[in-house]
Amino acid sequence: MRIDLSDKMQEALNKQIAEEGYASNFYLALAYWCDNKALEGCKRFFLRQSEEERMHMLKLYEYLSVSDVHPITPGFNQPPADFKSIQEVFSKVLDQERSVTASIHSILKLAKDENDFNTQQFLQWYVDEQREEEAVIRTILDRIRIIGEGGQSLYYIDKEVEKVNTGIINSESTEA
Ligand code: FEO
Repeated sequence: MRIDLSDKMQEALNKQIAEEGYASNFYLALAYWCDNKALEGCKRFFLRQSEEERMHMLKLYEYLSVSDVHPITPGFNQPPADFKSIQEVFSKVLDQERSVTASIHSILKLAKDENDFNTQQFLQWYVDEQREEEAVIRTILDRIRIIGEGGQSLYYIDKEVEKVNTGIINSESTEA
């Protein structure tokens, strides 16, 4: 089924491709910052996030493609390369996800203004996904705060993030 998208909507969805692509690269950068600090649990978490963001991007390619719109492949923007602490890393991650959520919400508003019901339905998946992602990051930040910044804190933070990895994997394997 061909979906008619306004010029404004085409532009907004193409811009979202760039947002999701940036998020994927951002998480890749974080994964190898963690690798450098021997934080294996955090590295695995961010590699997985990077793959998920790429999948978010590819879903947009497909949606534009079935709408007979040529998706624009974005260039690479340089993500930050260095951070003061793992606390700062997760705090920047929450900022990043909030920014993506705001972007999705603004496209959803445009879809509503334009009575574009197909795009509204398509974006609902992203709304749910963003809510879940933000909740996971807030949980990690809460655990980081509880652990504090003592000598062995990095070890315990990494263990907590590994627990989140396992939880995510378990919830997916029960859905399969
Ligand atoms: Fe797809 Fe978490 O932004």
